[in-house]
Amino acid sequence: MRIRRSRLHLILISFTIGFITAILCMVFFRPSFATGLRLSRIPIIFGKLNHNPFSTTGMASGSKKPVIVVGSGLAGLSAAYEALKAGASVRMLDRAPKPGGNSIKASSGINGAGTRFQHAQGISQDDTFYADTVRSAGRRFTEASPAGVDRKALVELLTGRSESAVNWLADEVSVDLSVVAQLGGHSVPRTHRGGGKLPPGAAIVSALLEKLKANPNFSLENSAEVDELLTGSDDAVKGVGYHVSEGEAQELEGAVVFAAGGFAGDAHGLLSKHRPDLAGMPSTNEARPASHGLLASLGAAFVDMDSVQIHPTGFVDPKDPGSAYKFLAAEALRGEGGILLSSTGERFINELNTRDVVSDAIMAMQHSTVGSTRQWDVTLLLDPGACEVAASHIGFYVWKGLVQKKKVKDLSPEIIASVDKYAALVASSSKSESVDPLGRKAFGHWRLPPGEANRDEEVCVGTVTPVVHFTMGGVAFDTQARVLRSKEGGETTPIAGLWAAGEITGGIHGANRLGGSSLLECAVFGRIAGAEAAKSVVGV
Ligand code: FAD
Ligand code: SIN
Repeated sequence: MRIRRSRLHLILISFTIGFITAILCMVFFRPSFATGLRLSRIPIIFGKLNHNPFSTTGMASGSKKPVIVVGSGLAGLSAAYEALKAGASVRMLDRAPKPGGNSIKASSGINGAGTRFQHAQGISQDDTFYADTVRSAGRRFTEASPAGVDRKALVELLTGRSESAVNWLADEVSVDLSVVAQLGGHSVPRTHRGGGKLPPGAAIVSALLEKLKANPNFSLENSAEVDELLTGSDDAVKGVGYHVSEGEAQELEGAVVFAAGGFAGDAHGLLSKHRPDLAGMPSTNEARPASHGLLASLGAAFVDMDSVQIHPTGFVDPKDPGSAYKFLAAEALRGEGGILLSSTGERFINELNTRDVVSDAIMAMQHSTVGSTRQWDVTLLLDPGACEVAASHIGFYVWKGLVQKKKVKDLSPEIIASVDKYAALVASSSKSESVDPLGRKAFGHWRLPPGEANRDEEVCVGTVTPVVHFTMGGVAFDTQARVLRSKEGGETTPIAGLWAAGEITGGIHGANRLGGSSLLECAVFGRIAGAEAAKSVVGV
């Protein structure tokens, strides 16, 4: 009798557990089959809730296949936004434990030409963005491109849609982009960021995520690594294979937008394959393997893979000078008035030249090897005017110990001499008398006077060195963001079912990207990719 009673208890307990599990499944895992999911996802949903504060429990409704977005950086988020707007459901997968990729780190801002924010700062006209981009892209722009890669059309789209991209973020996504700075290689100030404490990348990513998570047809899974692109017998992409942490393999069917970022963090993989000469250079990108191989396995064409951007200013942390990972000293610091000084305390370059030119000038000087890292000894110095305008950046860098505030009188005599010389140049520039022998024409917010009058003023200084930052090369794609596959005879053809956007793509920036144009390409081409992929699942 006792045995029978305990059996009854066991049955009751099992029933209760089963019932609770069924309820939880209904709550967290509503239209599973509608989204094309094949295998059980219960453990993933719980995992997601544990580690991802941005995640939504809402799953797509309707019977259509979803748009699958690989990567939760700005390119992926922009694609998701437009795909949802076009009526598709979106499943976003990211292998990182948190969303945002490198996009969340962006520190200087996003380019836009002809915006109302430029007008408000007295820039009434901006018709040089296309020309600036082509000049910066250099020889690559005139070199023969792989068939199907229309560099001119891609740059026209990038620059021509820049105002609407900024307006979209400001008006629809509610991001403050009211401050405009002039970065290297730009003829006028056109790089937009907000006036608050949040750097532009974090502001944009968090605002977009907020919008997306409010949509019940959107879901995001972090720690979900895509390891296969599934194809049908017609070679079209049908979906993805992925796994979550140590979990079992999953498959998901749908139109795929590939927004997996660049390979500047893949030091021992693609970077060493295409640019072995950069071995030992520090990077602004945390170490992460590239995902380009998934596209290569489908026969996708690649372009400009050896065009790797060296950013001139990564901070050397006095607490860990040999670290291979460096915090970026945002280019906006120079745009707002900062200058660069050599190890002997002299200015040596127009600080607002393009990144390749500034980096080359630094790397022509003597370097040292700290630990196993190759670096150069350059001082970045901001006068009080530049420090004030860049206050939110400076506050963070001072807190991290990367920037020190010092009175002019406490600097070395060589640096004081250079500061005085430059201050005199800037002071006379308003009377149109001065020409910088190094060619700088825009002085940002520099207001420090020359001579004894400046000795008790406080400047901001940090040590910087060139860093691997961005990969211009990537997968070949067209103006509809379709990934191109190589065919015999050098031709290319779009791969059905597959779109790409962001740093994973190549052909836009040529040999050198302009600062602020990566966030822009993510927004412009991410939106195109999302809209085009959505068309394929919801019809036109
Ligand atoms: P990312 O934002 O890098 O996102 C890619 C995502 O894909 C990642 O989250 C990654 O985890 C995920 N992923 C990769 N492979 C897989 C896979 N197999 N399965 C699942 N997920 C995968 N550009 C500007 O224009 N302005 C700036 O001010 C600026 N500042 C910068 C500052 C720093 C410190 C850095 C590093 C870069 C900066 N850039 C800036 C460059 C710019 O931020 C990036 O190039 C851009 O954000 C890339 O966006 P993305 O969406 O293509 O890729
Ligand atoms: C920076 O803030 O200097 C980076 C900007 C960019 O990479 O576009």
